[in-house]
Amino acid sequence: MLVDTHCHVFHEYYEDIDDIIKRARDNGVGAIIVNGYNMKSNREVLELVDKYDIVYGALGIQLEELDDFNDDNLEFISRHINDKKIVAVGEIGLDYHYECDRDKQKELFKRQLEIARKYNKPVIVHSRDCIQETYDILKESSVIGILHCYSGSVDMAFKFIKLGFFLGIGGIATFKNARKIVEVIKDVPLEYIVLETDCPYLAPEPYRGKRNEPFYITVILQKICEIKGLDYKEVEAVTTNSVIRLFDKKIKL
Ligand code: NI
Repeated sequence: MLVDTHCHVFHEYYEDIDDIIKRARDNGVGAIIVNGYNMKSNREVLELVDKYDIVYGALGIQLEELDDFNDDNLEFISRHINDKKIVAVGEIGLDYHYECDRDKQKELFKRQLEIARKYNKPVIVHSRDCIQETYDILKESSVIGILHCYSGSVDMAFKFIKLGFFLGIGGIATFKNARKIVEVIKDVPLEYIVLETDCPYLAPEPYRGKRNEPFYITVILQKICEIKGLDYKEVEAVTTNSVIRLFDKKIKL
């Protein structure tokens, strides 16, 4: 069975969550990790994990939501991080693509890494246009997790792996102009790759530009098979096994 390690299946984007969950299940997706990024979505994560057996959750506050950065909200994450189907702190991280206070971003990121460390949880990390800064902070933090939507170099990939991180690979790998990520997929052992859709964004080819959803994880898997010259069953087994280990068997398939 497959696991979508990073997605945002929220009512804000989907009116038909029941159908989306059904399509995922019908296509061999055994678990999806819905990542919060602000307080509204974090609260919805708690509802979704109760409602759907295949849904697991990650709680976090992301940079674009700096308004939600206060002690009470961080306390909310701490309070729920050991809830039954909450498996990680995420989505958290840094994004230098947007005009957004970088010191404040770093502080928010570090405070949430601290929560992960304290409760011994993996993190799901976003990093855009600041891979070195992300690495420097993670190196100091002694947490493990997933670098979601990995977009760095092959060298950098091995550095993150050494820290205990897996690379989240999604739709970008299927894009016609994808080069850097294809090199990463070729060179990095399959044991360090996990699958994600990041839906509703970044739908894989041939659905690029359309609404993304968890069952397209099958398309991403096929692309990895093509790049690495491996068969579907093998990539499925290895990537899912990595997820089970990372989340300490909290995800049941
Ligand atoms: Ni995301």
